[in-house]
Amino acid sequence: MYIQNVSKTYRQKEVVQEVNLKLSEHKLTAFIGPNGAGKSTLLSMMSRLLEKDCGDIYISGNEITTFKSKELAKKLAILKQSNQIDLVLTVRELVSFGRFPYSQGRLTEEDHRLIEEALHYLGLDNLADRQINELSGGQLQRVYIAMILAQDTDYILLDEPLNNLDMSYAAQLMKVLRRLVDEKGKTVVIVLHDINFASSYADEIVAMKAGQVVYHDITEQVIQKPVLDELYEMNIQVCELAGKRFCLYFNE
Ligand SMILES: Nc1ncnc2c1ncn2[C@@H]1O[C@H](COP(=O)(O)OP(=O)(O)O)[C@@H](O)[C@H]1O
Ligand SMILES: [Mg+2]
Repeated sequence: MYIQNVSKTYRQKEVVQEVNLKLSEHKLTAFIGPNGAGKSTLLSMMSRLLEKDCGDIYISGNEITTFKSKELAKKLAILKQSNQIDLVLTVRELVSFGRFPYSQGRLTEEDHRLIEEALHYLGLDNLADRQINELSGGQLQRVYIAMILAQDTDYILLDEPLNNLDMSYAAQLMKVLRRLVDEKGKTVVIVLHDINFASSYADEIVAMKAGQVVYHDITEQVIQKPVLDELYEMNIQVCELAGKRFCLYFNE
């Protein structure tokens, strides 16, 4: 995925500033950076949910504005930072929405298989027949993620999907995403606010600040004290445990 000179301005404030980025295919790339850096805005433009003011975004060699909506929905799925659906639906029905670009409601065997697989990946087998308005925040978040996975796209964009998830489900989701990258060759782009999840699971990290990409490199290069201190304007300790780097950021 290529992002070329992409900008977005809100009320005379350029919140995404001429971003140029080449995201590696078949990798898990984490976006990090302080609140308001422009991560969600950029992800929304990458998925065409939000119109860019200028620039180009290429997926498989084609600019995103050239895709028909249904074709784009077969190529790329996005989970936004906040989702709200006020419909009376079961978990399985909401997850099956992910198949809509393919089946328009007439589900095939393949659709059913992908729906059950997505339910299983997110640990939702026992909740599949429950109404979504009876779920906890974390359970509902997992249902939305399952819907995105059921869409079975080459590109999966997730904006802070760990929100509301307990540690166990958060780690489980990251492992599922790794498997999708490693075994199915998906390209996963994920906004994470906990840099330890980025450090443990991402291949590459894009760090954004004030509308710009300030770093884009393999994870080991970005998870370094000088880089993170500058990015978050904090005193962050980076330590190593079991061959992985961890950041301590709450004991100044
Ligand atoms: N719809 C909008 N209208 C006006 N300003 C917005 C809108 N969406 C985002 N912004 C502003 O753009 C900046 C970047 O926001 P966002 O992309 O959500 O940052 P991040 O996801 O990195 O926290 C913020 O200053 C935010 O207030
Ligand atoms: Mg955001």
